[in-house]
Amino acid sequence: MTTALETRRLDPEADGIAIAADLLRRGMLVSFPTETVYGLGGDAGNDLAVAGIYEAKGRPRFNPLIAHVPDLEAVERIAVLDDEARVLAEAFWPGPLTLVLPVRDGAELSHLVSAGLPTVAVRVPAHPVAQALLRAVDRPIVAPSANPSGRISPTTADHVLTGLAGRIAAGLDGGPCGVGGESTIVGFGPRPTLLRPGGLSTEELETALGAPLAIRDEGAGITAPGQLASHYAPDAPVRLDAETARPGERLLGFGHVAADWNLSPKGDLVEAAANLFRMMHEMDRAGDAPIAVSPIPDTGLGRAINDRLRRAAAPR
Ligand code: TXA
Ligand code: MG
Repeated sequence: MTTALETRRLDPEADGIAIAADLLRRGMLVSFPTETVYGLGGDAGNDLAVAGIYEAKGRPRFNPLIAHVPDLEAVERIAVLDDEARVLAEAFWPGPLTLVLPVRDGAELSHLVSAGLPTVAVRVPAHPVAQALLRAVDRPIVAPSANPSGRISPTTADHVLTGLAGRIAAGLDGGPCGVGGESTIVGFGPRPTLLRPGGLSTEELETALGAPLAIRDEGAGITAPGQLASHYAPDAPVRLDAETARPGERLLGFGHVAADWNLSPKGDLVEAAANLFRMMHEMDRAGDAPIAVSPIPDTGLGRAINDRLRRAAAPR
């Protein structure tokens, strides 16, 4: 996504939904309104689309993303709900609630969606434009807030286009968002636990559950939900900035090097980001010989890749 795109503003009343759905199915990025904030959407099953979201937002880190689907049936194709999750799903979906659930075996999700975690965050938005889009695409769409990293979450299509014009294929204009803050995130660890306060109040959740929510223990060293992902690392030791592999090491390459695993033989950072988590998993499964990693330029998406690789290489 190095060349600037001509970002189209789409009208959901006209054929905007069909055009947006077609762009998403082709791996392009499209922003759309939800009742909380505008999301920057990409196909959750397409590694390059998900990597492109990080590129477009200029995110310096791989935080796991929320998969958006139109109904509970679609949730169950990618995630597993226990009884308490089902109570919340039935009470509040569609709505401003995100549940962090175990990934269903065989779910067709890019490894980048969960950033290496065994769970996936799922949301069924209520906004009619989001609903129509998700039904038209008919596959899970990941969507972080549609703002450049570090900026305020957008609640109008103008906010989105001010920040992201030239970086995404299109923006659906559905008017101002109603809630204007992000969705409430609940995880199950295994008790229902508030991971992020948001558009749905704790009181409403507790009334539906008939029990208080657990609060994430800040003292446990996890200060934001996304940082949970930092715990993912292959079992094998990892050595960074390796020009070549030493005897006994396996090389995770980048650019024109001979390697069994190469993040991007042509040295493309979006492709490398798209492959990062999948290849770390594959190398993990394939053996326990130490892993050497080629140098990765520390620009653009390279910063997020290096952030993750440094965590994987940190002493454990
Ligand atoms: O209202 C919203 O939720 C908006 C709209 C667009 O749906 N989306 C949104 O996405 O706020 P984002 O990417 O800005 O925030 C996602 C949050 C992050 O804090 C992330 O760490 C957390 O969800 N998250 C995602 N997957 C997770 C997982 N498997 N475990 C724990 N936290 C997770
Ligand atoms: Mg955000």
